[in-house]
Amino acid sequence: MKDSFRFPNDFVWGAATSAYQIEGYPLADGAGPSIWHRFSHTPGLTENGDTGDMACEHYRRYASDVVLMSELGLKSYRFSIGWGRVLPDGIGRVNAKGVDFYSRLVDELLEYGIAPNATLYHWDLPAALDDRGGWLNRDIAQWFAEYASVVFDALGDRIPMWSTINEPWVVSDGGYLYGKLAPGHRILFEAPIASHNLLRAHGRAIEVFRASNAAEYGRIGIVVNLEPKYPATESIEDLAATARADAYMNRQYLDPLFLGRYPDEMKEIFGEAWPEWPADDMNIITQPFDFLGINYYTRSVAHHNAEREPLKVGGIHQEESVHTETGWEVYPAALTRVLLWVKERYGEIPLYITENGAAFYDPPVAAERQVYDPLRVEYLRGHLSAAAEAMQQGVNLRGYYVWSLLDNFEWSHGYSRRFGIVHVNYETQERTIKSSGRYYSNVIKSNGAAIER
Ligand code: BGC
Repeated sequence: MKDSFRFPNDFVWGAATSAYQIEGYPLADGAGPSIWHRFSHTPGLTENGDTGDMACEHYRRYASDVVLMSELGLKSYRFSIGWGRVLPDGIGRVNAKGVDFYSRLVDELLEYGIAPNATLYHWDLPAALDDRGGWLNRDIAQWFAEYASVVFDALGDRIPMWSTINEPWVVSDGGYLYGKLAPGHRILFEAPIASHNLLRAHGRAIEVFRASNAAEYGRIGIVVNLEPKYPATESIEDLAATARADAYMNRQYLDPLFLGRYPDEMKEIFGEAWPEWPADDMNIITQPFDFLGINYYTRSVAHHNAEREPLKVGGIHQEESVHTETGWEVYPAALTRVLLWVKERYGEIPLYITENGAAFYDPPVAAERQVYDPLRVEYLRGHLSAAAEAMQQGVNLRGYYVWSLLDNFEWSHGYSRRFGIVHVNYETQERTIKSSGRYYSNVIKSNGAAIER
């Protein structure tokens, strides 16, 4: 980062969470169960049998959590809305108490001058809709539009930033192809259908947004996770493998959204499991939206591996690099690269880094109520510098959200991986700001000048 570089005054410094990962009390006040409630309550599917039943008890502690955000100096808070809190059956009957929870949260944020950034779907599909096929049922585009419309009507006068779906790739890959995440299917034929319906649902929600009052006050986008793929060697086979990995993870969603077509590699990867889609679907999928959210954690180095179906791609572990506790290589330079790539391939849409962060082992809270997490501080420093570098090279980056505000329920890893800049003691629910939280707070207060310190 050049010394002369200054972040714009309106740069959005934030932190992110998601509903099922922090709220706890998933069935309180008439909420309907989600697929994550079901999945985590099925023995053997999450580490230590952990569930989101208590999580960070944010459902009850949201007001003091907003005070904490304000202490950190956050300009914006990215959270998600639990579909089943709002519509217990996924469609139909609205649960006023569920809507009220988010309404109170939003009011509290505004009271402290923190801009709410709401995601409609962060993986917690109502179980009642999964019983009807979930993301495999074409009707889900309509169900999602119905849900979105209820939320826009209730909160649209107060929310400046909306996202439709968080990481469609993870929903399809984890939920339908490899089964590590809810609903836990492992069926090749299902993954493309889930992906396509996620995109259709996104498009329908954009249409509903434009027709609602929420559009007068806010802007809307989608959040994708991007992971640049580097070839292990320059061999033709490895280059082709790298292209397949890139198509599958990075272009599968962005190409249809921006270019109105799927990458050619999709057919190669899925073979006869890749369907012909109705021609009209792309009209819905390509609805213009206002910004793109990018979640960036790591890169991967790809090589051809015929045994790894369906992609036939393996990853090469980079021995010389630092890795996080989720096994991800720390590689900030790829963040600069991916931001430049998005600008070059898809054009001038405003970008936000909607998640970036790391799970590292945290030492126990010291007597003086400190948690020292130097590896996470280094991770943030490297990636914030990489983001600044991209901006210096002309990328229209408008904001950055650290993942995560709080240690929380890390999906199938349960509570065993901590991503927070604030430590959570799950027995007492005590929150302690880690050194990374203090570091980030200084970054915010100095509007980026303290990144290198
Ligand atoms: C997800 C978060 C998750 C984080 C760390 C992202 O893919 O949006 O919900 O906790 O990565 O794994």
